[in-house]
Amino acid sequence: MSLDAKADSFKTRRKHFMERIAAGATAILPSAPVAIRSGDVEFIYRQDSDFYYLTGFAEPESVAVFSPGHPDGEFVLFVRPRDRERETWTGRRAGIEGAMIDHGADKAYTIDELEKILPRYLEKSERVHYPLGLNEKFDERVLKMVRWAQAMRPRLGVGPTVLIDPRDIIHEARLMKEEAEIAAMRRAMEISREAHRQAMLKARGGMKEWQIEAEVNYAFRSQGAAGPSYPTIIASGPNAATLHYIQNDREMRTGELLLIDAGAEYDYYAADITRTSPIGAKFTQLQRDLYQVVLDAQLKAIDVIKPGARFDDPHNVALRVLVDGMRGLGMLQGSADEILESASYRRFYMHRTSHWLGMDVHDVGLYRVGGASRVLEPGMVLTVEPGLYIDRDDDTVPESFRGIGIRIEDDILVTANGHEVMTAATPKTIADVEALTAG
Ligand code: GLY
Ligand code: MN
Ligand code: MN
Repeated sequence: MSLDAKADSFKTRRKHFMERIAAGATAILPSAPVAIRSGDVEFIYRQDSDFYYLTGFAEPESVAVFSPGHPDGEFVLFVRPRDRERETWTGRRAGIEGAMIDHGADKAYTIDELEKILPRYLEKSERVHYPLGLNEKFDERVLKMVRWAQAMRPRLGVGPTVLIDPRDIIHEARLMKEEAEIAAMRRAMEISREAHRQAMLKARGGMKEWQIEAEVNYAFRSQGAAGPSYPTIIASGPNAATLHYIQNDREMRTGELLLIDAGAEYDYYAADITRTSPIGAKFTQLQRDLYQVVLDAQLKAIDVIKPGARFDDPHNVALRVLVDGMRGLGMLQGSADEILESASYRRFYMHRTSHWLGMDVHDVGLYRVGGASRVLEPGMVLTVEPGLYIDRDDDTVPESFRGIGIRIEDDILVTANGHEVMTAATPKTIADVEALTAG
């Protein structure tokens, strides 16, 4: 997408946001704080998703202010000042000119002017939109200014009386993906597909999990992704039963299963894909039986996704298939209804099946509306990721079952007529997986 088209889409989002907060309001959004990794070394900076969604501005120490109809400008950015010496160390800054010319701010100021300028907006506002609790240090600064504007209210006849969380509005917008967002997600998913293919192809007994982590993250970066959108999970053998295993330091053995949960972040959008494959081999009969149960659960769950279905539908379908499969394999006793009622399946399936996906891997947006599971609409993207996890010490099942973990995860776009499996090209059938692992 061209830079102009990108600037336009940020502008359109701001317009919609300002229509929602309406005249008489000021919204304040801080950039993500810089985080220390150790000593004086910082984590690589990643802008806050809400902030970026509305501004396209990637620099730290910035504040965005939105004030529909304000005579001094509706969209104001507070940014780091240009500073030749600092820029020599840490790179170019937009400065106040760049904030206006390249990022569409009606007005821009340096961040040290916040206390001088922001009160001018607050004193004319009845409502203040601010995400309280995200950044306690910044909360204090904002609340001090809000209190000042409140104190002025008797004299000016106007001033803030309500504090509102702007995230409800922003998150509902983010939940419905635009074409350009879907395009960025597709790219993240293509890059991730190649990473998963390479991992299946290269994983062999005797290698360490971190060697595969390196392959996956290499595939991300070498194709232009920012990196992983969450820490890459390379879980061989019994480690696959740990849901968020990220140590990635075990030596893999031929014929064990390898669960890889890895997705790239491309242009601020995440992919989230899990595949489970036999290391340098074909599936054993038991692995195949368990894999087929998870695959059937996933395919049937995906099948029910369409506009009008509810967010919980794929979970309920997947759960049914998993429970039937586990009964068939002798892992659970009793009728399916008894198992669902007592939740005894949780021993082997302890997480939900789906979450929203977008700028954040566990993306924003309400899962329940009016007390009921949310109705799916075109433009929403969700994962479907059933699994079975058998602890290495679980003595309720035969020994051959122990230490096996399987998850299969795809990213699904709700379309006008149904759905699209955006990650369909990542090998998933037993034949396609074995073609890579046992080739
Ligand atoms: N990778 C995190 C998740 O699947 O939810
Ligand atoms: Mn996921
Ligand atoms: Mn995942």
